Amino acid sequence: MRVGGGKGARGRGGKNTVRGAGSATAWHRRTRRTITLAILLVAATASAQTPAETASTAFKDDVHAAAGFGCTACHAGAAAGAYAPTPRTAIAPMCATCHSDAALMRKFDPQVRVDQFLQYETSTHGKRMASGETRVATCTDCHGAHGVRRVSDPRAPVAPLNVTTTCGRCHGDPGRMKAFGREATPPADWGASVHATALLKRGDASAPTCVACHGSHGATPPGVTAVANVCAQCHLREAELFRASVKKDIFDAIGQAECLVCHNNHRIEPPADHWVGVQEGAVCAQCHDASTDSGKTIVGIRSELDRLASAMSEADALLTRAERAGMLVDDGRLAFREAREHHVQSHVLVHTFAADQFGKAAAEGLASAQRAHEAGEAALQEIQVRRRGLAVATLLVVAFLIALGLKIRSLGPG
Ligand code: HEC
Ligand code: HEC
Ligand code: HEC
Ligand code: HEC
Ligand code: HEC
Ligand code: HEC
Ligand code: HEC
Ligand code: HEC
Repeated sequence: MRVGGGKGARGRGGKNTVRGAGSATAWHRRTRRTITLAILLVAATASAQTPAETASTAFKDDVHAAAGFGCTACHAGAAAGAYAPTPRTAIAPMCATCHSDAALMRKFDPQVRVDQFLQYETSTHGKRMASGETRVATCTDCHGAHGVRRVSDPRAPVAPLNVTTTCGRCHGDPGRMKAFGREATPPADWGASVHATALLKRGDASAPTCVACHGSHGATPPGVTAVANVCAQCHLREAELFRASVKKDIFDAIGQAECLVCHNNHRIEPPADHWVGVQEGAVCAQCHDASTDSGKTIVGIRSELDRLASAMSEADALLTRAERAGMLVDDGRLAFREAREHHVQSHVLVHTFAADQFGKAAAEGLASAQRAHEAGEAALQEIQVRRRGLAVATLLVVAFLIALGLKIRSLGPG
């Protein structure tokens, strides 16, 4: 409205005199200042909302509000309008007054767990908090205090897509972690892992976030000896093979965790054939070189992996050429799929750390790749034969036409 008035003033002045222009500018400046002040005032009033109002707003969308609780459920003095800050060390015991009370909680949900506080007390977070160290996590750091959501709600801070960020607020904060002699790398390392790719890019909900490996309430890192149990929850086959292999006793003897030396705990990368070997960069080269028998076994395993990989890519290229030329190579594709299955198996069987079982899968893979190769070659030969046949037929037709032409000419006109 004021802007309209300003325009009107200028319009009314028509061709402004210098003085008129000057006073119009002053008027504009004043107007602008008034508007700015008004905006600032409105903004100030908005941000002057009391913590109690902010809490009330958030509480509208809270699982406790939905269950019929009010502010007094957690704030003893709230009835009198007093919201004394709850000391951080008192939060978990306060939440536990209900969440550890089975009789109360089962009225709301007969299946509900009531061991969160018990578990929390066993975790490093809980133990340190109990001893007065308030920089570790308590219930509200992971769940919030107002606007608490069910864990099944995708907006919950503990929902699978959000939980690494929730843990990352502290575990990705170098300042906070340094005080405890810890790295702030787990969140970023996890973010660069095959697990993050599976969860975030492929929507694979079975890929682990922090809590799948560490637990949510009993959040402790699995001890070195229990580490394999963590990976084995999901990678059963590799874990079984590892445990049946010579490596199990060897790693126990040298105090090495089962999977981590080759795969890491957080930054788990996509495995590849070049990991196997004694050359620089291979995971085995951390402990092996070419001079020993085990080194020779490793080099042997690697060369079989390489042979299989190149046999497969050659067979694939041949089959693709034949298909492009319009040939059906179903048998070849079947053999190729078999080769691929053996190829996958051979990667898993690397965890036997021995030549025999692995070698069997690799040899079967090579044989299948060979069959695929032969099918591709046969199809390409067939094309050659057909082309040759076509050429001969074309030649015959041309010869016939020429002969016919000559005959017609020899008959002459008339
Ligand atoms: C489920 C328990 C719970 C309920 C219910 C709850 N609060 Fe809180 N509130 C807390 C906790 C715990 C804190 C401590 C600060 C934190 O961790 O965020 C807190 C902090 C506060 C504070 C800040 C106090 C300060 O000075 O630090 C205010 C104000 C507040 N709550 C108001 C409310 C109001 C208003 C309601 C009802 C609409 C409410 N709360 C309901 C748990 C609760
Ligand atoms: C370090 C983060 C963290 C802390 C601290 C924490 N929780 Fe949780 N909580 C979670 C996660 C993550 C889940 C999701 C379920 C899961 O994956 O176990 C969860 C689930 C829950 C659930 C749903 C039922 C269940 O057990 O699955 C309740 C209730 C709960 N927490 C209450 C609490 C209470 C009470 C405290 C404090 C004593 C607390 N939490 C402390 C992370 C935390
Ligand atoms: C007055 C009792 C009471 C207190 C105190 C209380 N809760 Fe609850 N809470 C409940 C009840 C009851 C439910 C389940 C409601 C339902 O299932 O409908 C619940 C549900 C939850 C859930 C959702 C669990 C799920 O099913 O996904 C979380 C998370 C939670 N509470 C966390 C907390 C935290 C954190 C605190 C402390 C800041 C706290 N609660 C304090 C009674 C309480
Ligand atoms: C409020 C900050 C905060 C949040 C949020 C938090 N943590 Fe922690 N956590 C800490 C601090 C600080 C330590 C270090 C304690 C120590 O060394 O005494 C720690 C320690 C740990 C440890 C090491 C325990 C040990 O015994 O070595 C693990 C594992 C852990 N947290 C996992 C998690 C997970 C998983 C989450 C999320 C579900 C999480 N934390 C959320 C602050 C937090
Ligand atoms: C695939 C399983 C897995 C996932 C996912 C995972 N961790 Fe770990 N984490 C481990 C293992 C195993 C160790 C123990 C490493 C060791 O003993 O050398 C560990 C160790 C830790 C430690 C203790 C290291 C230290 O000395 O400070 C912290 C803290 C930690 N993880 C936090 C996290 C956080 C935060 C996330 C999520 C961003 C996460 N982890 C995700 C398996 C996992
Ligand atoms: C909660 C289940 C779960 C846990 C625990 C788990 N993983 Fe995984 N892991 C997955 C899923 C899901 C994938 C993705 C599957 C895929 O790519 O085919 C995956 C992928 C991988 C891959 C890549 C596989 C490939 O073919 O590219 C490796 C390597 C791996 N995990 C190692 C580990 C290690 C080491 C641990 C323990 C520190 C671990 N995982 C713990 C579920 C888990
Ligand atoms: C001594 C090193 C080493 C150890 C220990 C080890 N792995 Fe592996 N792992 C490898 C190598 C090398 C590959 C890749 C093979 C390839 O692609 O040629 C691999 C591949 C994998 C894959 C992908 C398999 C696939 O189908 O492509 C998974 C999953 C895996 N490992 C899980 C584990 C688990 C779980 C443990 C612990 C029980 C473990 N590994 C222990 C070296 C190791
Ligand atoms: C953390 C160190 C370490 C790593 C990493 C490691 N090894 Fe070993 N490995 C050993 C030790 C120690 C021995 C026993 C001494 C020896 O035979 O050289 C051994 C023995 C072996 C043996 C001989 C087993 C037998 O029957 O006596 C083979 C084969 C082997 N390793 C394969 C591998 C392969 C393949 C890799 C990589 C994927 C690998 N190792 C990575 C430490 C390691």
